[in-house]
Amino acid sequence: MREVKIVATGSYVPEKILTNDKLSEVIDTNDEWIKSRTGISKRRVSINENTSDIATKAAMDAIYKSDIKVEDLDLIIVGTATPDCYTPSTACIVQKNIGAVNATCFDISAACSGFIYAVNIACEFIKTGSAKKALVIGAEVLSKILDWNDRGTCVLFGDGAGAAILSSSDKSGIMAIYTGSDGSGENLLKCNAASLGINNNSLSIMLNKDKYEENNFLTMEGREIFKFAVRIIEESIKKLLEMSKLNMDDIDYIIPHQANLRIIDFVSRKLNIDKNKFFVNLQDYGNTSAASIPIALNEMSRKGLLKKGDRILMVGFGGGLTWGGAIVKW
Ligand code: ACO
Repeated sequence: MREVKIVATGSYVPEKILTNDKLSEVIDTNDEWIKSRTGISKRRVSINENTSDIATKAAMDAIYKSDIKVEDLDLIIVGTATPDCYTPSTACIVQKNIGAVNATCFDISAACSGFIYAVNIACEFIKTGSAKKALVIGAEVLSKILDWNDRGTCVLFGDGAGAAILSSSDKSGIMAIYTGSDGSGENLLKCNAASLGINNNSLSIMLNKDKYEENNFLTMEGREIFKFAVRIIEESIKKLLEMSKLNMDDIDYIIPHQANLRIIDFVSRKLNIDKNKFFVNLQDYGNTSAASIPIALNEMSRKGLLKKGDRILMVGFGGGLTWGGAIVKW
């Protein structure tokens, strides 16, 4: 069985910065409320770039930094909850944009855990010999599914994309990885796809049934998600340490999904883990869902924070409910 390592990372965020103060000019909120409840100061929002556009830019950033030719990529997986289309997949559009003509391409729907899920799948392809070089992307334009009149959700999220190139290797880079799901929490964080209402209202009128109504914005039970998040981060950290036979002293950094600073603080206190071990950049980007972990990983790499041999524990959680984590040796 082959091993897998991350050979390059990349990211891209849209130019437009939306600060808490700017948001408070259009909805009933304020910088103090958002910062104290979430840690978020600003986020990026896309004006005219769709998910495949920002995914392509993150992918090119990673490709430029690697010595890999696009034709060598045999797999592209995009984790996203905000694809451009139902079909084709965002991954197929990225393939066309970058010219990776030899890749098999598909998307993964696992909300904020999408990047970890995609890395896990890419690892399996590489370990079994079905692929040698994989491009894994987490990309979201959440601004298009947010209800900008709902201050309980719209202040939390941002747009962005992060990418990693995975390659088969003699030495292990990905030391442990796992994912999990619990569909019984389907309603806690949800965004409907095409409403039955659009086509089916005419059908229901024909059939003399009640009109079917639902919205297509992201909805969230914030407190339930908070409880789920702190429980599952703790479980994931313990599980990954057990799988890799490491302990917390062996871990140099933790990259949690960048949802909310209070979630991270809570876990740090509960597990008695030094707060400085957690890399946090949600103050600048908000919650970018599937993109948050690869954006953070690339930022750490770009800032020179990661040394060869460092062990990084990544942990994601999100709608579905879904979760997952990995320990990576840099
Ligand atoms: N600005 C000002 N006031 C607000 C805002 C806002 N943006 N949003 C809500 N409020 C008000 C509410 O209307 C309510 O007012 P009321 O008491 O007069 O009715 C009050 O603040 C408290 O509202 P709650 O929703 O109960 O706020 P809570 O303290 O639970 O904080 C939060 C909300 C921050 C979302 C919290 O539940 C949380 O941290 N949840 C975790 C979920 C999370 O981070 N999700 C991210 C996405 S999920 C993921 O990535 C997996």
